[in-house]
Amino acid sequence: MGEHSDALSLDALLQGWDGEEIVLRRDHATGATIIIAVHSTRLGLAGGGTRVKTYPSVEDAIRDAQRLAEGMTYKFAAAQLARGGGKAVIAIPPNLDAAARDDLLRRYGALIHQLGGLFSCGADVGTSDRDMDVIAETGAPYVFGRTPENGGAGDPSPATAIGVFSGIKTTCERLFGSDDLAGRRVVVQGVGKVGYPLLRLLRDAGAELTCGDVDTAAVERARAEMGVTVVAPDAVYDIECDIFSPCALSAILNSETIPRLRCRAVAGSANNQLATPEDVDRLRAREIVYAPDFVVNSGGAIYLIGREVLGWSEQATLDHIATSVRETLKQVYALSDEQGIATSVAAEHVARQRIDNPSEQA
Ligand code: PHE
Repeated sequence: MGEHSDALSLDALLQGWDGEEIVLRRDHATGATIIIAVHSTRLGLAGGGTRVKTYPSVEDAIRDAQRLAEGMTYKFAAAQLARGGGKAVIAIPPNLDAAARDDLLRRYGALIHQLGGLFSCGADVGTSDRDMDVIAETGAPYVFGRTPENGGAGDPSPATAIGVFSGIKTTCERLFGSDDLAGRRVVVQGVGKVGYPLLRLLRDAGAELTCGDVDTAAVERARAEMGVTVVAPDAVYDIECDIFSPCALSAILNSETIPRLRCRAVAGSANNQLATPEDVDRLRAREIVYAPDFVVNSGGAIYLIGREVLGWSEQATLDHIATSVRETLKQVYALSDEQGIATSVAAEHVARQRIDNPSEQA
């Protein structure tokens, strides 16, 4: 889908990105390619997740790292955290075995260590808190989100879900004048690390839930535990609902899917939901409210920084996440109304303003 960039040359990739630096390493033992993209260190040294995935080409992987790193810059800025944006992508060959994967992660950790703090990593799609333990063997102290047994704050995904939940409530308030979710219909795409705990929060709030995922065991578990309606992975776009919540893939809002949507708003955790910047205009033309991804999904980043850098308590951090997402999203909606601009553009304005006024950062 939209994630595949058409035969982009390295030159075009570098021309088309306003980030600071890319560290590129071929791991000959596995055939993997490690890409660390540092988008901006204006607010501080860079931080970001580690995405481990198989890509059609190295160029696609670089493009993904660039876009994800840019998203992290905006995410930290919008959340008023004094961090720069970066992202690591490890493009692996299919069927990499577990032992080889661990060794690869250790070499990745050594690379992070070598960078001396320029980039601190955490988990993302394809990595877990256990992986962070392995990376920290060689990458310490530049690793966020190790397991609690190893002294880390653990998997930040449940905290991300709390932020998404807050974003959904705030968006319902905008649409319906009330943030009460009782009876609201929500479709969740992806019931993984964030989608699953999000479903629980929505269920407890009385929402009517539908979900889809290629992982049939995961959706079955959700159905058994919560009685949610399960649809085929590709059918999520066609379901009539109040909120469509993408919690799986990038670039799912594109020229093919947007005409199919039957929701009032989109608010989910996936990074880089818009395939292209123009896709937000397609949503606007259909009067679908778009809650910008890097605002809605900032809970995980806030959690890791709050717990591991700022020394906040668990409860204080979770409370801060809900408040931060709500207040930033309200500001974004207000700016979008005032200036008649798309919400994604408004969110970038809010983030840029915070980058230019770093004294306001936590
Ligand atoms: N990967 C998650 C995100 O995109 C969590 C994360 C945040 C990991 C910050 C490391 C640093 O927000």
